[in-house]
Amino acid sequence: VEETYIMVKPDGVQRGLVGEIISRFEKKGFLLKGLKLFQCPKELAEEHYKDLKGKPFFPKLIDYVTSGPVVCMAWEGVGVVASARKLIGATNPLQAEPGTIRGDLAVQMGRNVVHGSDSPENGKREIALWFKEGELCSWVPIQAPWLRE
Ligand code: GTP
Ligand code: MG
Repeated sequence: VEETYIMVKPDGVQRGLVGEIISRFEKKGFLLKGLKLFQCPKELAEEHYKDLKGKPFFPKLIDYVTSGPVVCMAWEGVGVVASARKLIGATNPLQAEPGTIRGDLAVQMGRNVVHGSDSPENGKREIALWFKEGELCSWVPIQAPWLRE
């Protein structure tokens, strides 16, 4: 099954947007498998964003993601990775379409409120990185037959 790692970044937590952001994925019909509030250590932030190491904004990005608690989420569903990226919107919130999370709720790349995995492989990698085995649940929501025929 396809899974994606979604994270409300510290600005989203500080601004009280956690409920709003979770709600968008819930309403869409994806399955929540893991959820926690977490203070990310620097080493984990660096591992998570290791592909961006060497970019000029990398140190600022690590400061940003570790500046306060984040909300870590694992979501499951057919096509969830690409769909979540669409729900989130473009990296630069000023270019993100209205209706997307970043398009509706953010103005700056360095304060873009949410993260979403960019491929199914990275979805699996990031969920394994941010969650321990016992923190994830497999369950069948009562609405399942009303979401998929
Ligand atoms: P994530 O879902 O957080 O991974 O964002 P993304 O996939 O839309 O963008 P990318 O993985 O390329 O960059 C990761 C994060 O680094 C972005 O969400 C931004 O917070 C930050 N970032 C990326 N590019 C820039 C930039 O040019 N300037 C600044 N200040 N931050 C950037
Ligand atoms: Mg990314």
